[in-house]
Amino acid sequence: MKVKIKTGDDYQIFEYDGDLNISVITLIERLDAPIEYSCSCLQGICGACAMLINSRPCLACKTFLNEDQMVKEYGQITIEPLSKFPLVKDLKVDRSILFDVLKDCEIWLENDCGDGGDVDFEYEMSLCLMCGCCSEICPNYKLGDFAGAHLAVSSSKLVNQESDEKHLKNIKNNYKKRFFSHCVKSTACEDVCPMKIPTQRAISKMNRKSVWKIWQLLNLD
Ligand code: FES
Repeated sequence: MKVKIKTGDDYQIFEYDGDLNISVITLIERLDAPIEYSCSCLQGICGACAMLINSRPCLACKTFLNEDQMVKEYGQITIEPLSKFPLVKDLKVDRSILFDVLKDCEIWLENDCGDGGDVDFEYEMSLCLMCGCCSEICPNYKLGDFAGAHLAVSSSKLVNQESDEKHLKNIKNNYKKRFFSHCVKSTACEDVCPMKIPTQRAISKMNRKSVWKIWQLLNLD
């Protein structure tokens, strides 16, 4: 099969004729070429290996050649770095903005009200790997004010738990400013999330809590 890897402005082309029952990360390792990329856990847990595989953002350690449509039908695969984050080198990008946004938007608990909230919902939201796939696919996301779907996911985890009113207000205002006023509801974030997090539920919840006044007046959810 043909392996096309973006390195800088160009693509390097490799031939691979080994086992197809391997992940894309293993493929890159087996090419034995000096290509820079990020990975850590190799189990779909750390989110570090997010990259574009045949133009779709996904985790390279969880994407297998024998399951890839382009490999099966055309015998080729194209691997590129995420395009919405600063490029470090080859397939490696700097995703630190994702973490900075959570700090800027005060995504932490100041005072846990202790009622546990909706534990199942919060567990689902806590699966976020901060890999950046949702931001990569979003037609509206570019570096700047729009924080991306991971802010909605992380905020929705806290809104029923925070009992410090001032801090809760800040979380909601930051959500309005950094997410709600930019999101165009393409829903692509949910399609590509490697953890299958229902991002639309997180967004709806945050909209009810922060924006839609009728819900707040009726004190629903
Ligand atoms: S290396 Fe950790 S998610 Fe792929």
